[in-house]
Amino acid sequence: MLTMATADSSRGPLRRAVVTGAAGFIGSHLCQTLLSLGVGVIGVDRHSPDQHQSAAINLAAILHQPGFIFIPGDLRTCAIEPLLLDADVVFHLAGIPGVHPSWGADFDDYVASNISATQRLMRAATRLHTPRLVVASSSSVYGATDGSPSAETDRPRPASPYAVTKLAEEQLCLAHAARPDCDTTVVALRYFTVYGPRQREDMFIQRLVTAAMTGQKVSIYGDGNQRRDFTYIDDAVSATIAAATAYLPSSIINVGGGTSASLNDILDHAQKITGRTINVHITNPRSGDVPATCADSSTARKLLGWAPSANLHTGIGAQVDWLTAQYAASSLAV
Ligand code: NAD
Ligand code: UGA
Repeated sequence: MLTMATADSSRGPLRRAVVTGAAGFIGSHLCQTLLSLGVGVIGVDRHSPDQHQSAAINLAAILHQPGFIFIPGDLRTCAIEPLLLDADVVFHLAGIPGVHPSWGADFDDYVASNISATQRLMRAATRLHTPRLVVASSSSVYGATDGSPSAETDRPRPASPYAVTKLAEEQLCLAHAARPDCDTTVVALRYFTVYGPRQREDMFIQRLVTAAMTGQKVSIYGDGNQRRDFTYIDDAVSATIAAATAYLPSSIINVGGGTSASLNDILDHAQKITGRTINVHITNPRSGDVPATCADSSTARKLLGWAPSANLHTGIGAQVDWLTAQYAASSLAV
């Protein structure tokens, strides 16, 4: 059972957690760490391992572990209250990520999964008096900054439909939490570009390391000078668990890796680590793609006692090692 020490004091032991989006990149890592700490986990996702390859890969290490129950369910429609019975915390990671597709035909799914489903979840959490809900927000809510650190008090200026839905999602949770009849405290974590093993295949680092192994070409949208505050998955998970256990009022907290790098820097790292030349194709910048993100991490330090510890070289190295093992396993299977 997990009792986390924090900057101030802890809310006590975590026995049982619900993780939405459990079959996704961040959600599956979070489930795995919680289980290793002795926390019982109910994982919910609309993608199930028997029907979706990415869910099968992400959940392979934990699906049959004692303490883990996977429930296939779409939060837009499924019965939520039975999932939340006795939960000490809900980690709400389910949602439609990715900036670019949000301009197009998928927009309705962004609204339904990131906003409407969150409304259903918060209503259920309120009714069941779930003590804490940690919700995945996004650095994208800050929009186009000049690259100086963004603090949680800065005015959000979302630059894409996706970012608008993530801002709506966190604010919706906080609005519920502010109701006098709501016992749930909400911690909204603004994650900054998370990477590492099992990163989503649409994301830049995953595309680069895949290209290094396959010889495929990677498109770089713009001049490659966009900068991101890349956050290693283990750091994102430790901040997320600290957000569940810290004694806090409802809050918004940045989770940034402290590793500012441009896409061109990342290309250099990936080529050095893999020892391969990666074919890149420079193409037009995409709407909503912000020039830079950079987290002011002082709130996370103060409220969660958290600071990132990974560096880009070892983090990308771990992602390369994982992908190499995946390719080796799939060629053995053939
Ligand atoms: P992911 O796509 O790997 O995981 C999200 C999971 O949510 C998927 O498995 C998906 O099937 C599930 N899901 C979506 N809609 C659902 C619904 N209606 N009902 C049930 N399940 C549903 O994405 P990720 O990269 O792991 O991101 C997780 C969360 O963190 C998302 O909310 C995303 O917006 C947020 N976030 C991610 C990053 C990042 O860099 N990966 C950065 C900031 C914020
Ligand atoms: C990432 C996640 O994808 C979002 O879900 C998340 O909300 C966001 O982080 C966040 O921090 O809140 P992004 O920073 O755009 O968004 O991360 P990537 O998708 O990895 O893209 C990083 C950069 O690489 C962007 O400038 C993107 O345009 C570029 N890119 C991506 C390419 O040039 N080529 C590609 O093939 C993919």
